[in-house]
Amino acid sequence: MTTSDSAGRAESERLHKLREVELHEHLAPEYVRRYKPAFSALFQRYWNDEILASTHPVSGRVLDCGCGTGVMLSTLASHFESVHAVDLSPDMLRLAARRETPGVRLGAIVRADAELLPYEDEYFDSVVCRGSLHHMPNLDAVLCELRRVLRPGGRLVVSEPCNDSWLVRTARRCLYVLSNRFEEADEGYSSDEFNRCIRSAGFRILESRRFGYLAYALAGFPDIVPILKVLPFARALTSVLIRVDRVIERVPGLAGMGFHVMVTAERDENCGDS
Ligand SMILES: C[S@@+](CC[C@H](N)C(=O)[O-])C[C@H]1O[C@@H](n2cnc3c(N)ncnc32)[C@H](O)[C@@H]1O
Repeated sequence: MTTSDSAGRAESERLHKLREVELHEHLAPEYVRRYKPAFSALFQRYWNDEILASTHPVSGRVLDCGCGTGVMLSTLASHFESVHAVDLSPDMLRLAARRETPGVRLGAIVRADAELLPYEDEYFDSVVCRGSLHHMPNLDAVLCELRRVLRPGGRLVVSEPCNDSWLVRTARRCLYVLSNRFEEADEGYSSDEFNRCIRSAGFRILESRRFGYLAYALAGFPDIVPILKVLPFARALTSVLIRVDRVIERVPGLAGMGFHVMVTAERDENCGDS
């Protein structure tokens, strides 16, 4: 890459980050509304618990990278002794701080770019990212930084939008075109491409699976897909949908239609720079 190429890339990444901050200034209050209905809260808890179940040991220090309004903080605080959270958006962080989650010190919620984390090497026992990495323009740089702050043997657990299925790809593309709640560049990954990036940042993948089917689409985003909002027994229905999703996840041929790819990894100590 020539000097002018890399200067161009740095400038486009800088602009992308500015757009992210601007986008989340408008989205922050919508996130609060999104997670508020009882059926959505049930789905969010299920998603958080799936992420939590992949961390190991479920104790020590954890980082929620790209924490947004802090939807994972109480789940993490009920298991880890020390919970830290970073995000680039001051507006999302303001709402995260307002959650007053018992067990999370307010000073542990800080504004930072995931490419430049304010922690020493090997500080965390686990790092989790829920739907945040695809908002970051330089995935490789972020993954290297996450590896730096994770201790050897600690777990990285990430859940990001997956575009393996043409149906999901098309649904997502339509949503991005029709709605002003998305940044065009934040579309997600194919699971192969995502896994490759994780490996080349110096991680060993322990598990990579698809996540999020009917319950994700119908209960996860009531501000965008308001169907369950108008149906009776929405919480009970969500419970059924979650059970259906658990089955779909195990059916070859259907499993690939997940809206997310969830990857659990640890540092690969055999890779060059360790
Ligand atoms: C879709 S939201 C997800 C928030 C939260 N994890 C959740 O599940 O609700 C993506 C978050 O990533 C944050 N973000 C985007 N770029 C970032 C960066 N470079 N460093 C840290 N956070 C970033 C955004 O501000 C936003 O809060």
